[in-house]
Amino acid sequence: MCGIFGYVTDKEEALGPILIAAAERLTYRGYDSVGAATIHHGKIDLRKDTGKVGEVAAKYNIAEMRGQRGITQLRWATFGEPSQVNSQPHLDSDGDMVGAHNGNVVNNVELREQFMAEGMTVRSQNDGETCVHAVERYINKGYQFIDAIRLAYGDLQGDYTFVIGRADDDKLYAFKKGSGMVVGLGEGFTCVSSDLPSILPLTRNVIRPQDGEIVTLWADRVEVRSVKDGKLIDRQPELVTETMDAVQKGGYPHFMLKEIHEQAQVARELLHLLDGSPDVAPLVEKMKKARHLYLIGCGTSYHAASVGAVYFAQLAGRAAIPVLAPQFIAQYAPAVGHEDVGIFVSQSGETKDVLNALEAAEKHGMACFGLANVVGSTLTKATSFCLPLCCGYEISVPATKTFTNQVVTFLYLAYRLAGKDTAELARIPDLMDQTLDMVGPQIEAIAKDINTWNDMYCLGYGATYPIALEGALKLKEITYAHCEGMLSTEFKHGPLSAVSQGYPILFAAGPEDVPLIISGINEVKVRGARTIVIAQEDPRLRANGDDLVALPPTDPQVNALLAVLPLQLLSYHMSVMRGFDPDFPRNLSKTLTVD
Ligand code: AGP
Repeated sequence: MCGIFGYVTDKEEALGPILIAAAERLTYRGYDSVGAATIHHGKIDLRKDTGKVGEVAAKYNIAEMRGQRGITQLRWATFGEPSQVNSQPHLDSDGDMVGAHNGNVVNNVELREQFMAEGMTVRSQNDGETCVHAVERYINKGYQFIDAIRLAYGDLQGDYTFVIGRADDDKLYAFKKGSGMVVGLGEGFTCVSSDLPSILPLTRNVIRPQDGEIVTLWADRVEVRSVKDGKLIDRQPELVTETMDAVQKGGYPHFMLKEIHEQAQVARELLHLLDGSPDVAPLVEKMKKARHLYLIGCGTSYHAASVGAVYFAQLAGRAAIPVLAPQFIAQYAPAVGHEDVGIFVSQSGETKDVLNALEAAEKHGMACFGLANVVGSTLTKATSFCLPLCCGYEISVPATKTFTNQVVTFLYLAYRLAGKDTAELARIPDLMDQTLDMVGPQIEAIAKDINTWNDMYCLGYGATYPIALEGALKLKEITYAHCEGMLSTEFKHGPLSAVSQGYPILFAAGPEDVPLIISGINEVKVRGARTIVIAQEDPRLRANGDDLVALPPTDPQVNALLAVLPLQLLSYHMSVMRGFDPDFPRNLSKTLTVD
């Protein structure tokens, strides 16, 4: 997820400081590059590069940029490495249009090829440039600008917000499909952004366009038209009363809760991206031919790898070895060779333990691939190729949306390995939202009930065993209570002695494991435990457990993914009830670049 900001004023003025300030207000979203473009007396001035806002602004004297219209963009790389040429905004072939986007155009590769075949000058790999050429295509065919945009909208697939301007007129145009956009109405200016925080200090009078609408911005007014028929739409302005902090958190009290609720949307964007990715097919081929397949990570990423291993076995009959990165070095690296494949999983792409394992694997000739959220990170550069997690910046230290998108990626790869139709996965985002809606109040009440305990277990089995490990980690990380994740059948081999009256035990269960989980529930319940079961609705579980946190009905593999959501919420509420900040827990950092 990047950030864009566009501004139209009624006078030729120093736009540089306005664009820099807006860019600074977008930095909380995370980025690797920044750029600014102004249109001044019919000429486009474009300055952009990788680096922080202050660095790039100083290097290119952005503060001195003048004009009547301006666009700034902060890039979080998904398509194309972080580089000056891939930074945004982008020009059309002749340099008389300039535009920038936020989001992902999933048919980027094929559109770029079409535009080059049509003789356009394509300078970068970035899908933001693709948006500019998509409009250029129809301008070249003689369409009026609004109609060119309407046709381009149909060509551009994915989730994005796009702002574009032409040197020879006095307005900007913006449109969106599945991504955020807000328009500000000020005194003598109008503005548009992917993010409300970049607009708030300028004006609190805003319009919120919907998907399939095109906004034309003049200095003193805006027009909203339908992509479908070009007709005018009446969108009434509203007054924003939220604080800046609340707005940056999307109205949620903490980034973690916002990111928990972003999971369905980023999963939707990820599935679009994977459908359009040229890297999936060759990776699946490599996995098919591999002698041994290793899934390597740490912490939450290791848990995602462990879920992936269950998916590959259950769906594709393919054994995969999930392993903690340092243990891979000791236990497997000496035995691997070029016929083996390793997928290295890391949201940051900078975890030293993972990079050490990657180095050991490459020394032995293993074919190494990555899953990372930060494109341009060391992992993405050090592997043959790396699938992006497509989450945007994850601010909260406890990983949530990067975990679920890692799991979704493994499920997608398992489907492709098995030759199953990945279109079946399109239901996942709605099931995730449905789960959060179903369990919210009940989980908050359970958090209150068990919050006095500083010791508990979280048990799972089969596909939900790694989910139990992940739930336990979340509880440890942000409530500071000791919660151990364990295979449910192991509990009777010793840990059962921990049970006392009211002792909380969480069970994450799949529909196929109910009889086994019922045995586990009764083993502990007769000794006084409070049994909280996270599973699909089942009268047997209702009859045996104390609490049933019901999930929507689905297959065992998707059920495992959904089961983590109540555990994320449980840890979040318990952390807040304890007076902690779940976003930045004590002793922890978001990226561990040390051994
Ligand atoms: C997860 O909530 C923790 N922040 C931590 O376990 C994390 O998953 C681990 O440090 C690995 O980080 P990575 O995904 O960036 O490699």
